[in-house]
Amino acid sequence: MKDTPAWRALAAHRDALASQRIDALWARDPKRGEALTFHCGGIAADFSKQKVTRETLGLLLDVARESGVAPAISRLFAGESINNTENRPALHMALRGDEHVTVDGTDVLPEIERNRDRTRVFTNAVRGGQWKGATGLKITHVVAIGIGGSALGPQLAIEALRDRANGPEVRFIANIDPAELDDALTGLKPASTMVVVASKTFTTQETMVNAAAARTWITAALGADAVAKHVIGATANAGEAVKWGLPDCNVFPFHDWVGGRYSLWSSVGIPIALAIGMQGFDELLAGAHAVDLAFRSDPPERNVPVLLALIGIWNRNMLGIPSHAVLGYASRLASLPAYLQQLEMESNGKRVDARGKPVGVETCPVIWGGTETPGQHAFHQWLHQGTDVASCDFIVSAKPMGAELDHHRILLANALAQSEALMAGVETKEPWRACPGDRMSTTLVLPQLDPRSLGALLAIYEHKVFVQATVWGINPFDQYGVELGKTIAGRILPALRGKAADLHPATRHLLGVVARLGGPH
Ligand code: F6P
Repeated sequence: MKDTPAWRALAAHRDALASQRIDALWARDPKRGEALTFHCGGIAADFSKQKVTRETLGLLLDVARESGVAPAISRLFAGESINNTENRPALHMALRGDEHVTVDGTDVLPEIERNRDRTRVFTNAVRGGQWKGATGLKITHVVAIGIGGSALGPQLAIEALRDRANGPEVRFIANIDPAELDDALTGLKPASTMVVVASKTFTTQETMVNAAAARTWITAALGADAVAKHVIGATANAGEAVKWGLPDCNVFPFHDWVGGRYSLWSSVGIPIALAIGMQGFDELLAGAHAVDLAFRSDPPERNVPVLLALIGIWNRNMLGIPSHAVLGYASRLASLPAYLQQLEMESNGKRVDARGKPVGVETCPVIWGGTETPGQHAFHQWLHQGTDVASCDFIVSAKPMGAELDHHRILLANALAQSEALMAGVETKEPWRACPGDRMSTTLVLPQLDPRSLGALLAIYEHKVFVQATVWGINPFDQYGVELGKTIAGRILPALRGKAADLHPATRHLLGVVARLGGPH
């Protein structure tokens, strides 16, 4: 923990609370359900199954105050260069708002609106069939190529909003594994396929190699000119996209002040608009914008992203919980854990603060999770009786996501049962049946799984990450940790292509193993 008055007070409170179980806190304060449930962007966040009291929240808010969370939020929205290592603002919120924000003396709103209009015109034309492929066919399929933030958000949104999908079918290629390319292209016809290359930098190896293969697939069938009708780019590096061979008008730009993992709100979201229509995409943006407004204006004591962040800090830094499970009680949220892994772990998986000094506290926990109820028949055993404790977020939709109401009732019963079981546990004579309980969770209740609620949910998590970063002193908007592996891969690749390479003996050894098992020479 940090050695400051607010952290010390929090630690003293933790020690005083240590012997109290969460269900005992419920027995002492039966109104804690109401007292610890807050709303944001239409979503209810119930913190009453956390090992916290109202006093805990007050002390956590002192930590937030001491860390300067409120001024940091103001700086974020004002477009200050809070990404200090890359010397730029983080203004993804501007993409879903209607406010005039100035970056380097220029109001960015007119360009944001222009880009959004271009997306609207393009996606309407493709969906409506006015945009035709090189041979005059309507576009029926989209191959979305991108990785990390250039794929995870659109993939999650399209899966989550599948009931709205009335446009071309979207398939994703993220991995450089050639199987992914083969699988995505199987059964597709170039003449009715649109390739969307999403890459902030337009240099990411996996994306550019996959994009080149997809472009060849198009041009081999339809000729070189077909690129204009079948390939578009979403990027912050328009120059590179044009150099790569895209006509200017096929490039949908966004700014470098949109972080990759915050880019689904930009032209990176075009596959979403193609799949569900621009109205749905606008609603997604509106849901996120509603949360932005609440995040800026709700008092900290009922500010959901702030509280979600602070409770995460309590679990991580005071109770020593090393991992956090995201449990989506919605089959259409299967990609949420992967999305949040990038959002939280790439942002806050850091060990030095924004000035380069050791942070001095544990930072981002391991984020993982599953789709429920199938996860109940897999890893929940570990959650209930394992030797480690994970904190959990249960995510449920109040209204059903399919036609069978009773299925939904069963789904809800299971969600509520799991969080109760984790908290209450059970004592039995047979030790193998006993569940210790006292395991903490938050339940986030969406009114329904629609674009607005999804936008709100993702924005809540984005702002949670920002608040945690502020308290830990981290810059959440860079990701230098991913660079080293990329550099080493660049050294190893020539060896796999049969060329001389300067290799670590451990790598040379594994290359030998691969070769003996028939791998590339
Ligand atoms: O893995 C690092 C990363 O830079 C992510 O932050 C980003 O979302 C992803 O790679 C893809 O980058 P790009 O959009 O530039 O292709």
